[in-house]
Amino acid sequence: MPYPSKTRYDRVSQVFHWLTAVAVLIAFVLGPGGFGRLMRNGVDPATRLDIVWHESLGITVLVLTLLRLLWVLVRPATPHFNMATWMTLASKGVHGLLWLLLLATPVTALLALGTEGHPVTLLGGIRINELPWIKALPIADLADWGDVHEFLGDAIIWLAGLHAVAALYHHVVLKDGVLKSMLPGGKR
Ligand code: HEM
Ligand code: HEM
Repeated sequence: MPYPSKTRYDRVSQVFHWLTAVAVLIAFVLGPGGFGRLMRNGVDPATRLDIVWHESLGITVLVLTLLRLLWVLVRPATPHFNMATWMTLASKGVHGLLWLLLLATPVTALLALGTEGHPVTLLGGIRINELPWIKALPIADLADWGDVHEFLGDAIIWLAGLHAVAALYHHVVLKDGVLKSMLPGGKR
């Protein structure tokens, strides 16, 4: 394992952070309006490049987040900044919710596809026609998982926006090195 971080996150955490942020943003932009309705009207999702990219990026987010959580368990110490207690708590709360949404947004999409009997269609022609084990889950009928997924997909963007504004506030107003901690370069 490399050196412990002092003012910056380790490089692996930084790479995970920015790859995930880009994948979430593009998946959101490609979240095609009326997407669920199209599939319910019989449109094969494999024929729509925006849907295939949306699902592929969304699954990438899920895989990156699972690997990243493993990395969090073993990574070097993360930087610590002295700030007001409310700010530390707010930042921990927002990070916690972002972690939760990074898992729940893709998982609810799989629940939606599985319970409605739609295929998962990914880049490279990968296609999983049915997910019968999802239909059999006790939570399968608990909600309209497509609606929940849409809500969470919007929520993660609002929260990430707030989180980005906070990072810029740290950089421009407080000048405390928080934003730089997630950027490459400098002394660790
Ligand atoms: C972090 C990752 C993701 C984000 C931010 C996200 C975001 C969204 C958003 C905002 C919508 C609503 C689009 C609209 O109708 O206006 C949506 C719909 C949808 N997404 Fe995702 N999504 C993600 C991951 C995934 C994954 C992994 C899959 C499938 C493997 C997926 C499949 C779907 C489906 C099937 C719908 C239509 C739901 C329905 O109306 O029944 N998404 N997504
Ligand atoms: C979809 C977009 C984003 C998501 C899901 C996200 C999520 C996260 C998460 C989960 C952490 C904790 C990381 C860890 O412990 O390894 C984090 C940290 C951080 N993020 Fe983001 N982020 C996003 C976008 C951004 C953007 C656009 C910026 C900057 C403008 C940013 C700046 C930072 C900074 C500076 C930290 C370290 C802050 C600290 O430790 O208090 N993030 N982010």
